Amino acid sequence: MIRQLFLAIAIGFACSEACTINFGQMRKNEPIFLYNTNNNINSFMIPNGNSMTLSSGTQFLIDCGQGRKFNIPNQNIQQLQVSCENNAFMIGNQLVQSVDNFECMDARNSPVVRIQKTQSICGDDGLIYNVGFHVQNGNSQNFIQVLQSCFDEQSKSVFYVKSNIFGQVDRSGSPDFSINNGVWTDGKVVPSNFFEVKSVKSAFSTKQFHRGHYAPNADYPFAQHRRATFQYFNMGPMEARFNGKDWSQLESYVRKLVKHHGQTATVFTGGFVYNSQSALASKNRPINILNQNPQGNKVMMPGNQVKTILVPDLFWKIINIGNQGVAIFMFNDTTITQQNFCQNLCQKYFCCNVNEFISGTDGIKGNFNWPHDAYVGQNLGMIPE
Ligand SMILES: *[C@@H]1O[C@H](CO)[C@@H](O)[C@H](O)[C@H]1NC(C)=O
Repeated sequence: MIRQLFLAIAIGFACSEACTINFGQMRKNEPIFLYNTNNNINSFMIPNGNSMTLSSGTQFLIDCGQGRKFNIPNQNIQQLQVSCENNAFMIGNQLVQSVDNFECMDARNSPVVRIQKTQSICGDDGLIYNVGFHVQNGNSQNFIQVLQSCFDEQSKSVFYVKSNIFGQVDRSGSPDFSINNGVWTDGKVVPSNFFEVKSVKSAFSTKQFHRGHYAPNADYPFAQHRRATFQYFNMGPMEARFNGKDWSQLESYVRKLVKHHGQTATVFTGGFVYNSQSALASKNRPINILNQNPQGNKVMMPGNQVKTILVPDLFWKIINIGNQGVAIFMFNDTTITQQNFCQNLCQKYFCCNVNEFISGTDGIKGNFNWPHDAYVGQNLGMIPE
């Protein structure tokens, strides 16, 4: 009897053995992995470092994204439905041992980045834009969101970007970002041409200025997510040396901090002019604004061909995990070694209680529509900088 029971338990365990996917180094042609719970494509799967363990029975999709196919000769497949079955994977009625090395066609055909304009007001008269990409779901398309941008069409600037950092994500390698195509889902504007690419470059990407990412591409687990971060909706002008060194060190610190807590963080990132007399304020960048006519040709937008984009001298992040959070920020102004709008909790960077930071900066920026989930009362436990 005991022996039978033991056997039953052993079989029970054997039948529900987990599956492992080794994502390895990031590859530019890698597909994207999405959960598929009850035929509801709900969210992307999040590796733990370079791999991921799934419990038996988990259903997911391996997808090349709309318009792209797997790199399987003579087959026209965009999406594979997979389930984890006892330490192996079922694709259709075929059992395969591993799904680690699936690849999509040429990265040039990577799915376009989709921008959805919403009617949610944010920042200083901006609107929320959802940035992501499409995957096929039966006969329709599901929008998979990567980040949200609070963007102002009038000033053509980004107030802040809302994104996530997924606890233990830590994939090495980098995909090819030479192709950054994007489409607004209302079909009117192609954002990579929205601002004439050359002039964005000359405005931001001279020796002095970079098109600085707000949500860094390295925060994301898959090549396709990372591609979606290369959009104007996620950019602000940033001094090249500041972007390349100081700010990127802060970004790595934030990833380490989130990893330390081991949970998904909601992150808001932005920049604004703190000192209107600063050296950077005198270097505001003109930028040519171009639109597309129905024939797809680039045309100047009537009346506002040249815009001036402010170069922020204060860049900030709010990092929230559950009901704890911290505001962490840096000045691109070497003359500022102190600030007095919130109590500093850090050494190398400036860090403050989130609510204190928000009410402190209101005095500088005027009233600003912060999203409700930016506010948290308690301070996040910090690690050494
Ligand atoms: C911005 O930061 C960079 C890098 O630290 C520095 O070289 C540059 O002088 C800063 N700009 C200003 C206006 O302080």
